[in-house]
Amino acid sequence: MKITIIGTGYVGLVTGACLAELGNDVFCLDVDQSKIDILNNGGIPIHEPGLAEIVARNRAAGRIKFSTDVAASVAHGDIQFIAVGTPPDEDGSADLQYVVAAARNIGRHANGFKVVVDKSTVPVGTADRVRAAIAAELEARSSTVKFSVVSNPEFLKEGAAVEDFMRPDRIVIGCDDTAEGQQAHALMKSLYAPFNRNHERTFWMDVRSAEFTKYAANAMLATRISFMNELANLADRVGADIEAVRHGIGSDPRIGYSFLYAGCGYGGSCFPKDVQALERTARDFGQDLLILRAVEAVNNKQKHVLGKKIVARFGEDLAGKHFAIWGLAFKPNTDDMREASSRVLIGELVKRGASVAVYDPVAMPEAKRVLALDFAAEPAALQRVRFAESPTDALQSADALAIVTEWKAFRSPDFEQVKRQLKEPVIFDGRNLFEPAAMAEAGFEYHGIGRSVLTKV
Ligand SMILES: NC(=O)c1ccc[n+]([C@@H]2O[C@H](COP(=O)([O-])OP(=O)(O)OC[C@H]3O[C@@H](n4cnc5c(N)ncnc54)[C@H](O)[C@@H]3O)[C@@H](O)[C@H]2O)c1
Repeated sequence: MKITIIGTGYVGLVTGACLAELGNDVFCLDVDQSKIDILNNGGIPIHEPGLAEIVARNRAAGRIKFSTDVAASVAHGDIQFIAVGTPPDEDGSADLQYVVAAARNIGRHANGFKVVVDKSTVPVGTADRVRAAIAAELEARSSTVKFSVVSNPEFLKEGAAVEDFMRPDRIVIGCDDTAEGQQAHALMKSLYAPFNRNHERTFWMDVRSAEFTKYAANAMLATRISFMNELANLADRVGADIEAVRHGIGSDPRIGYSFLYAGCGYGGSCFPKDVQALERTARDFGQDLLILRAVEAVNNKQKHVLGKKIVARFGEDLAGKHFAIWGLAFKPNTDDMREASSRVLIGELVKRGASVAVYDPVAMPEAKRVLALDFAAEPAALQRVRFAESPTDALQSADALAIVTEWKAFRSPDFEQVKRQLKEPVIFDGRNLFEPAAMAEAGFEYHGIGRSVLTKV
């Protein structure tokens, strides 16, 4: 099938590459010339396991191409996936300007029937706006071209995006019940047929329910995290171990083990903005989503939890103190720094006069870029951030180590070496990678999240 992907970012590039891998003829469009140049020169603009190989293989086979040519992109695909960003607007609602711009382009250039698929995460009712934008452009040039707008939200996780796309838990597709909607249904069904061979994974529904499903999923996951983080802070006060509690409750099949890890807050390009956008949608419809407001507030606070623990240990004034930070990306296996907890911690330590040496296995270039923006107003403060060559290099003469991202590479360090490098054997672990008892035995002062157990069994 002929597919166009509009927006060649995390979602667009993975979607395009995976659909090409299944034999489709894919055209990836982006407005960012530098991104397209990287891809056309055989590079990959993001870090995502397995993606480079798939892109290279399909590029060589001529099944995927990359371009900034809008007219050619619209002419190419019978199915046009909109996978552009939907960042938060100032009021927390999703900024739909890129989605609407993509829709207008389709209306401007469409020369035959098009299925327009909203793959970006968009608020309930966005398909209507996309439909109106396309219709207005078609009308402006007196075109009678037919089209249908479909919602097909994406559930991939950065860091496992290729695997998630290729082996989805579910595929959610919302179509309307017009004649064009039925045509779209048939095309989408054959596009996704290879994913349903083993068993049916597609949930067909109306467009608004499909749009809503994506927000409901992210809101639920964010809620579980904030719930555990709030309880972890209480566990620290009462002297309980949140990890023991996690096992104790996760074993209940009604609760399950997933997404119950306490830590230093969730970040990334999805949960923070999607929780906000759903709250905003609710407000527009006269409803206050009390739970989600709390989820967001707890998370914003939780991003400061490591900073607070460091201040409690080393004092309010951190001038002359130096800290090692392991992990900058918002989660492992990605270089995505959007809303990463590391940025809050670095800002807080540096603001209090400390210097830091930071290390991440893949996010160093992206960290340099975003921290320059974070410190744009006080560039001198950025001088107190050193970008280390390795985890060990980051530790040199540090007063303590703070762990912010749970990369596998940080899970089994040489503790003797860590102790030798640090001025004091103090670890603040924002991801609960280690066992407090084992750390104490190894001679560390260990501060986890919700792990201040008072008694030993
Ligand atoms: N990143 C994730 O893990 C993830 C997962 C599920 C859903 N989503 C959703 O998918 C959407 C895209 O997210 P992302 O992380 O891939 O964003 P991204 O910022 O990585 O990529 C978006 C791309 O769209 C391009 N773009 C913007 N306007 C354009 C236009 N008019 N024409 C062509 N290209 C244009 C940008 O240059 C950019 O390369 C968002 O709505 C997001 O919420 C993201």
